[in-house]
Amino acid sequence: MKPNKSSRSGSGSSGNHRVLVINGPNLNLLGKREADIYGASSLSEINVALTKLGEELGLEVTAYQSNIEGELVEKIHECMGGKKFDGILINPAAYGHTSIALRDALKAVALPFVEVHMSNIHAREEFRHKTYLSDFASGVVVGFGVDSYLLGLRGLAAQMKKQQ
Ligand code: DQA
Repeated sequence: MKPNKSSRSGSGSSGNHRVLVINGPNLNLLGKREADIYGASSLSEINVALTKLGEELGLEVTAYQSNIEGELVEKIHECMGGKKFDGILINPAAYGHTSIALRDALKAVALPFVEVHMSNIHAREEFRHKTYLSDFASGVVVGFGVDSYLLGLRGLAAQMKKQQ
């Protein structure tokens, strides 16, 4: 590990990379909300699946959800300097399409992040086709339902490994 990188992209006491999973507005309603689009799984079931996959991949997974833009921004600020987390998996939900504040926060902390969407946003209304995060994300996964999160976590794990 190069010294300048180890201070920024460090890892937990176990040596595992630490991933913050961030979910934006309305995703607390998964399982009850538009099940034809988002499926039947609840957010807690998704978080359990991510924690389990994280264990297999040697990651410490911490999950966070908020419906409030400023709270999401403040959570991202906790990633500053890489002291608490090494990478971010984010489903920004509708704020992905609207929030320059989320964009600026993710730019500021400069950790690798993967953007995920359960639905294929490119096959939906035009206002969903663009997000303010996609152009500087390490990767973007859309359209695979719960698997968007799991594939995104695998991609993020590989990315963090490369940056060691
Ligand atoms: C979403 C897609 C967004 O357009 C929408 O606002 C969401 C969920 C997805 O996971 O497919 O809330 O991010």
